[in-house]
Amino acid sequence: MEHFPALFAPIQVGDLTLKNRIIMAPMLVGYGHLDGRVSDSIIDYYEARAQGGAGLIIVEAACIDSPAGQEGLGQLNIDNDRYVEGLARLSHSIKRHGARAFIQLFHAGRQTTSKITGQQPVAPSPVPCRITAELPRQLEIPEIQALENKFIKAAAYARTAGFEGVEIHAAHGYLINQFLSGHSNQRNDSYGGSLQNRMRILLNIISGIRHSTPDLAVSVRINIDDFVPGGLQPDESSIICRYLEQAGVNMINCTCGTYESGLTSIEPSSYPEGWKIYLAEEIKKAVSIPVAGGGMVSSPRFASELVEKGRCDLVYLGRSLLADAQWIDKARLGKITDIRPCIRCNQCIGSNFQGLPVSCTVNPHSGRESQFSHSGIKPAVKSRVAVIGSGPAGLQTALSLSRLGLEVHLYEKEVQAGGLMNLAGIPPHKQRVAELRDYMLRQLKQSRIEKNFGHEFTIADVDEIQPDDIVLATGSIPLLPDIEGLEKSRYCTLEEILNKKVQLKSQHAIVIGGGENGCETADFLLESGNQVTIIEQGSILAAGMEKKNRRDLMNRLSEGGVVKRTSCQVIRIDHKLLWISDGKGEPEKMEADAIVLAAGYKPYHPLYMQLRTFNDNLFVIGDALRVRGFKSAILEGEMTAYTIARKNLAK
Ligand SMILES: Cc1cc2nc3c(=O)[nH]c(=O)nc-3n(C[C@H](O)[C@H](O)[C@H](O)COP(=O)(O)O)c2cc1C
Ligand code: SF4
Repeated sequence: MEHFPALFAPIQVGDLTLKNRIIMAPMLVGYGHLDGRVSDSIIDYYEARAQGGAGLIIVEAACIDSPAGQEGLGQLNIDNDRYVEGLARLSHSIKRHGARAFIQLFHAGRQTTSKITGQQPVAPSPVPCRITAELPRQLEIPEIQALENKFIKAAAYARTAGFEGVEIHAAHGYLINQFLSGHSNQRNDSYGGSLQNRMRILLNIISGIRHSTPDLAVSVRINIDDFVPGGLQPDESSIICRYLEQAGVNMINCTCGTYESGLTSIEPSSYPEGWKIYLAEEIKKAVSIPVAGGGMVSSPRFASELVEKGRCDLVYLGRSLLADAQWIDKARLGKITDIRPCIRCNQCIGSNFQGLPVSCTVNPHSGRESQFSHSGIKPAVKSRVAVIGSGPAGLQTALSLSRLGLEVHLYEKEVQAGGLMNLAGIPPHKQRVAELRDYMLRQLKQSRIEKNFGHEFTIADVDEIQPDDIVLATGSIPLLPDIEGLEKSRYCTLEEILNKKVQLKSQHAIVIGGGENGCETADFLLESGNQVTIIEQGSILAAGMEKKNRRDLMNRLSEGGVVKRTSCQVIRIDHKLLWISDGKGEPEKMEADAIVLAAGYKPYHPLYMQLRTFNDNLFVIGDALRVRGFKSAILEGEMTAYTIARKNLAK
């Protein structure tokens, strides 16, 4: 039976019928070859999402003028005949599962750097982007006309490669958005000044595509609000969209934000589900062609309501489809609780910003579809595996081993499974981590895994169950900092604060340790009216945290009046008095109502020495090996499960 009939009702975009209202949003994942050709891994990645039920897949930003217009390594190119063969394989792999295939046509303009392109970035005006901080060269009119032709030519390549539509990327602060926006376009010729002039490049491209490839559907992804001073706002964007409709565009894909606007385009976890759908609603008032909206959409029910209430005609999903390629089919079949939730950690876009291929914290298969292909794995010998620890690493190993057909015995010394996910889901805006834990525990419940909770694994268990392989995923334990007087003073740990074993209200709390966990604990303490000081020995707080979520957290700490003392150490504690040193002058004395330790974690693997005789059949993974967090834990869990399954296959 099909669920969410509004979401799964077909819709017409131009001459094309889409089987449902769900679009896979364009996401530059960097899985292409370094020379811009389509790779097998990018085909596998898109094919998995097409197979997962998408009505329309908009393949990520492909560069129409390489290298000048490129944004990152591994980005696809669509500016030469030589790319057509790979693009054709890609479009075919999408269409053969009943999804419609579009590709996004892109030029970075000033939002790139010479480190990537090997040349000075180009833009409508010589105004640097605050984030890339490189002065762009102003394009001459003949160069603009040449770029218009490159967009039109790229659409023709897309058509030859079998794509049914193209999407012009006119958003997020890239080249076309730079022309549209008064913030970045300061020209006073026929491509600048009035709205008519700022729209010229986009309208010329559309008219060219309509003329040379009239059977292609055309979507435009556009910022309805740039969220920068002097940038596009809904009133002006609505007018642009009316022109786009008249020019023959078949769909408007609404988005917002630029590099400079900060958090609004790929939002951190504090933004509510669907917060920017009002932008699509504005455009729906202006045009009668289909309007797509989205942003932070996680739940099928919410997505369906957007369509039912007419707030948009189609819903795009980005990160939710990185986290679970089957999201759409699971929604259609009503298997909502089987959807693996995206926790909005933004590690995906974080890897992109570091120039690395995108990887997902909760879904190790994203971008590694063939590496983790199931086919052919049927362990010849029924082997038995003991997995010790039920944090993210242990749970992932156990679930995957069981899925691959092995006999699994899972041990957890606590009564409650989930390890550090139980704590990590408590601070403000981290509830999605608790949802991930709940998802994993539901999978565990449905599995055939032998569960031993409230049971500390010992050598006696080895004798009893005689495992072929043992996976030590015992996680980590808090580090106790070496501070004079700490032992004799009253302090609590961040675990006690988050578990509410210690409850502070309207007090002055000093948090020792300003890593990600310490800062999140400070955020938590603010909720109950505490005044918080963080002491961190490093030069910045939450140093390793993903940039957008970090900026968001730092903003909240600043708004909450948190005193941030970096490059400082606590050298002595005497009950409620702390001596703080920055290594320069005399130590400073500070008084606290409560001292909270958040000095980090160290690996915990008490059984390792006793189990070493298992040699190649012993695996130490996740934080038990080295403290790194969920992403490594889940990936290692998955890799270990496949290693064990393949080893048994080879026996
Ligand atoms: C890794 C990553 C890459 C992205 N690349 C693109 C892109 O190529 N083109 C684009 O228009 N938007 C891009 N986006 C933005 C998404 O299309 C989408 O608008 C955004 O992620 C918000 O939707 P979501 O909350 O469903 O993820 C990217 C987002 C992510 C996370
Ligand atoms: S990396 Fe994090 S934000 Fe990105 S898709 Fe995966 S879970 Fe979501």
